[in-house]
Amino acid sequence: MCGIVGYAGNRDALSIIIGGLESLEYRGYDSAGVSVLEAGAIETTRATGKLSELKKVLSTKKRNGTASLGIGHTRWATHGRPTETNAHPHTAGRVSLIHNGIIENYLPLRAMLEGKGCVFLSETDTEVAAHLLNTLLAEGLEPLDAMREMCSKVKGSYAFLAIDSNNPDRVLVAKNSTPIIIGRGDEENLIASDIPAVLQHTRRILVLEDGDLAEVTASSVYIENGGKQVSRTEETISWDPITAQKGGFKHFMLKEIHDQARVVGDTLRGRISEHDASVKLPELDALRGKASSLKRIVMVACGTAWHACLEGKFFIEEFAGIPCEVDYASEFRYRSRLIDSDTLVIAVSQSGETLDTLGALECAAGKGPTLAICNVVGASICRKAEMVMYTHAGPEISVASTKAFTTQLVALQLLALFLAEARGTMSAAARRNVLHAVLELPAALSQTLKVDSEVAVVAKKFFQARDFLFLGRGRCYPIALEGALKLKEISYIHAEGYPAGEMKHGPIALIDENMPVVMILQREKPLFEKTLSNLKEVEARGARVIVVTDASEEDLKGVATQGLIRVPFVSSELSPILLNVPLQMLAYHVAVLNGTDVDLPRNLAKSVTVE
Ligand code: AGP
Repeated sequence: MCGIVGYAGNRDALSIIIGGLESLEYRGYDSAGVSVLEAGAIETTRATGKLSELKKVLSTKKRNGTASLGIGHTRWATHGRPTETNAHPHTAGRVSLIHNGIIENYLPLRAMLEGKGCVFLSETDTEVAAHLLNTLLAEGLEPLDAMREMCSKVKGSYAFLAIDSNNPDRVLVAKNSTPIIIGRGDEENLIASDIPAVLQHTRRILVLEDGDLAEVTASSVYIENGGKQVSRTEETISWDPITAQKGGFKHFMLKEIHDQARVVGDTLRGRISEHDASVKLPELDALRGKASSLKRIVMVACGTAWHACLEGKFFIEEFAGIPCEVDYASEFRYRSRLIDSDTLVIAVSQSGETLDTLGALECAAGKGPTLAICNVVGASICRKAEMVMYTHAGPEISVASTKAFTTQLVALQLLALFLAEARGTMSAAARRNVLHAVLELPAALSQTLKVDSEVAVVAKKFFQARDFLFLGRGRCYPIALEGALKLKEISYIHAEGYPAGEMKHGPIALIDENMPVVMILQREKPLFEKTLSNLKEVEARGARVIVVTDASEEDLKGVATQGLIRVPFVSSELSPILLNVPLQMLAYHVAVLNGTDVDLPRNLAKSVTVE
């Protein structure tokens, strides 16, 4: 998620904007920029790297007096590498514009504008909006009319802020699917992507809604939606700045767990065409031609990303009919690998900097096609792979990976469908069914997130246990592994994920009243009954059992447990994604009850760049 700050007032816009961007630095970014209106002209300064680099460049510039209006941006790259040319604001003629979100139809818009003589300097989708707005203003539209018209042509998610040198008293704002707030001050107003950016100036905020357009001056805020003026209730924020950075949540991990519905929507955006039952992944065009000759896929990753690969194996083998091996990157690097031109190697990594995964990819480079699935544009693993597919989870601050894992599963599901279409292993009808379920995922996740309070109650019963066993079968086995990892890495309680069917071959000796068992029980037959039998086996030996399930009340008749958490059912393939969320929450609440440092657990790093 990029950081956005705008200012209209009577004080020095530059220092206020830079200060606001600094309060958003925790979100992670790779470049920054600011545009201010000085003496009727737009003055834009941009730099790659941290805000300190931008401030260095600003200190070398001669200023034509102070500016009382401007916009600033910290960029988390989604389209186009992290370079100065791609940094925001983007300026076109009399307009300077910043953007947070994804413009799905930027390529046809860019072609249309180039046809009108517009010259593009960057690789970004955002620059299209700047040129389109400038073109509309040049055609004589009033600022807000031009903003409205521009937004009507843009498909996708956006928070736009724009300034127009011909109208130096106002900031133009537009919001769709990406957060924007307005901070009301005395003879000044601020606009931002997040509350921390305005807190040092005001606690009075307006939260814009999807479809809102606004014109903000020092003394006024005009908001419209659907062509009609609307008002947004002014709220007073009581949070301290640190709490505000976490969106009001106690920890980044909890904020990121609750981010999952939105970021899954961002990861899906623009990639599904229900009409022709296809997945649009232009970044994988090179793979389309090779898909039919692929004999096997090897997925390499570490930790949570490795669990995502185990789940992705189900998607790819079932949909695309290609045998998939999943290997720890740290193991793959040091064994005979048998990679040839018919083997696709997929490296999955949130950070794109995990040394073991990078090393594994290096072993495969040049032997066969390689693909990285990553959350950070331009990361080392992305530069090493032949092809890259990005998740759009936004910066993941908490060391324990949550939203990145969920978006990795979504990306792997899309990849499986892409390969199935290219290889002709699924009919259009079958693909359409799966895609329909995938499109329901954000809403199902929003529904699932509501179990947080139920999980907190269950956590209170179990947080003093010193060992946990997580059991699941089939698609739920990787989720059992992930649930165990989440718990152990943030609460320091020993936890083990195990195939439920394997439990009788040894681990059942561990079962007694001191060994809580978390049973992930998917309704999909025939494993539902098998897993239910495993549940009864552990109960018969005194285990206290927590059940996380997509099964109906009817299915669960007679199932007595110490904790029953139900998630909505969307499809058998997607249930593991939903079933994993209560496990994230369980780990979180148990860790909080044990007083550990949830976001920065001992001995761990967010990105393991050592062997
Ligand atoms: C996940 O909660 C852990 N922090 C860790 O296992 C992590 O998944 C692993 O280090 C891989 O990181 P990556 O996805 O950035 O490559």
